[in-house]
Amino acid sequence: MTQHGTVMDDEAGQAAFDAVIEADQRIEPRDWMPEAYRRTLVRQISQHAHSEIIGMQPEGNWITRAPSLKRKAILLAKVQDEAGHGLYLYSAAQTLGATRDEMTQQLIDGKAKYSSIFNYPTPTWADMGTIGWLVDGAAICNQVPLCRASYGPYGRAMVRICKEESFHQRQGFEILLTLMQGTEEQQKMAQDAVNRWYWPALMMFGPPDDESPNSAQSMAWKIKRFSNDELRQRFIGMLVPQAAILGVTLPDPELRWDEDGQRWHTSEIDWTEFHEVLAGRGPMNAVRLQNRRDAHEEGAWVREAAAEYARKQALASEGMAA
Ligand SMILES: [Fe+2]
Ligand SMILES: [Fe+2]
Repeated sequence: MTQHGTVMDDEAGQAAFDAVIEADQRIEPRDWMPEAYRRTLVRQISQHAHSEIIGMQPEGNWITRAPSLKRKAILLAKVQDEAGHGLYLYSAAQTLGATRDEMTQQLIDGKAKYSSIFNYPTPTWADMGTIGWLVDGAAICNQVPLCRASYGPYGRAMVRICKEESFHQRQGFEILLTLMQGTEEQQKMAQDAVNRWYWPALMMFGPPDDESPNSAQSMAWKIKRFSNDELRQRFIGMLVPQAAILGVTLPDPELRWDEDGQRWHTSEIDWTEFHEVLAGRGPMNAVRLQNRRDAHEEGAWVREAAAEYARKQALASEGMAA
């Protein structure tokens, strides 16, 4: 029995829920849903929102140092898009009963997870190209199937996010293409960035399928449509021809198409590194969290002023109504 109804309601609710999932239709905020489904979505959507917000930092680092006004304008727009993605996703999580304050608090207390990729440093301009190409590229592979996620507000948020991610990926590819057509030093800088980001980008799809215990349930609920390894394979298949056009080398000597297995054969991924970074011990975890905390504290007066303004507006409109 839940707070929403009786045992009978739960049985009827479960049956209605199962029918919607079976028919590939959508669950909406006011519909009955299993508690575990709600909790899974809150966890996944809030982690996704945190990733977008923390993900502004590695590139924000280069806004003041972009090599031209045009590059600066593009990078600024891209980073602002990521802020927007965070906001749509926090709103989607709020439709499930999570509050924005709780989610923010969990992030700045270091209790919430976010994508491990954003804990790597961005020492050169080529990192801007590589993040767009590899990190936004991996995000697209992950997120396009989420446009069909069974929870309505999540799926709809993903549609808009994916359109923007495609722009991000192309702008990154174009930065790298420009560098690869430049001087030898620029080409080296691009290759070095690809060497540093390639493996962490492959880790973005999460642990291998046999070590991903929640995946089967998420697939049954039609939140997730493809397994981690399937998405990783699809991503590699997308990168190989693009790397050839760029003239960069993907840093895996074992990488080849396995005709018999109909899959990409790769070297072993270093999952120890993934788990270390996820546990907060990556190169930039502490800096990223401290920046987020500082921004939250420095923005306190804006939130207070906005709340006070809203309170006065509400009072004024009550006065008008009276
Ligand atoms: Fe994004
Ligand atoms: Fe993006």
